[in-house]
Amino acid sequence: MSAIIEVKNLRKSYGPAVAVDGISFTVQAGECFGLLGPNGAGKTTTIRMIYGFTPRESGTLQIFGTDCDTAWRSIKARIGVCQQEDNLDPDLTVRENLETFAAYFDIPSALVNERVASLLQFTALEGREHANVKDLSGGLKRRLALARALLNEPQLLILDEPTSGLDPQSRHQLWSRLDDLKKRGLTTLLTTHYMDEAQRLCDRLIIMDQGKILVEGAPLDLIQEHVGKSVIEVVAPCADLRGMLTEKGILFEDLGQRLILYSNDGETLYRDLLADHCHEGCMLRPATLEDVFLRLTGRELRE
Ligand SMILES: Nc1ncnc2c1ncn2[C@@H]1O[C@H](COP(=O)(O)OP(=O)(O)OP(=O)(O)O)[C@@H](O)[C@H]1O
Ligand SMILES: [Mg+2]
Repeated sequence: MSAIIEVKNLRKSYGPAVAVDGISFTVQAGECFGLLGPNGAGKTTTIRMIYGFTPRESGTLQIFGTDCDTAWRSIKARIGVCQQEDNLDPDLTVRENLETFAAYFDIPSALVNERVASLLQFTALEGREHANVKDLSGGLKRRLALARALLNEPQLLILDEPTSGLDPQSRHQLWSRLDDLKKRGLTTLLTTHYMDEAQRLCDRLIIMDQGKILVEGAPLDLIQEHVGKSVIEVVAPCADLRGMLTEKGILFEDLGQRLILYSNDGETLYRDLLADHCHEGCMLRPATLEDVFLRLTGRELRE
């Protein structure tokens, strides 16, 4: 496998505040790589430095094996980007937005028509091509932003929260499009606040907080390493439960009215709890990436 993105000691401050604090990671060819973290963790700043929108303060960046300081134009031509904020032109139609963007990449006009038609179909925007962007719903705008990001047939796709605000149908549609693109070998760098989405789409991911990387790995490995196989949630725990858990060395988080128990042998523990401690309000479920995220980044609001 070859590295598509190689970031070393990337750093960015805004005045005294450090947004990205010397992070390093590598994205391999064909991977879907996730950047997760609470609000303000530094995900967008990292992504913007990678696609050259925000200048790096320090650190090195190689994309497609080439240093970004030496061959930026040719690198940029091979990247497709969907930014976190919608930056479509609201006064143009769907088709005009795509055509205007194609002009930046010097795509021959015969090819533009072909690509626009195939991307309108790929993103299920056929029939909307003459609609004004300002009249589109949020979901349709997101689809258009994806179509636009694919116009230059990129080898690296960068998506900053591509599904925020989308309904479940649109989210699933986008996931299936990303699956299609992955099958074609496209490398994707993605941020999301939906842990189910990250667990489903990402081959590997990092969780960041306050500009630093906390962990890196495959979703299932991270779940096993930081949480275990199962989680038991106990609502309104009885008085003796905390003592019993501490005595048995069972890892748990105390949220007052709710206890979250982490275990590799959830079934046995669950049976014991039902038999001796809680007759109701006890739920066994598989551990998820969201458990990892909350265990590592805590439950305090960030901003
Ligand atoms: N242009 C800017 N000027 C000053 N501070 C900034 C600027 N851009 C980002 N920041 C700050 O840098 C930090 C990281 O912001 P960033 O947008 O990268 O976070 P994020 O992880 O993308 O968050 P979110 O999940 O909310 O999108 C935040 O504290 C933010 O306020
Ligand atoms: Mg962001």
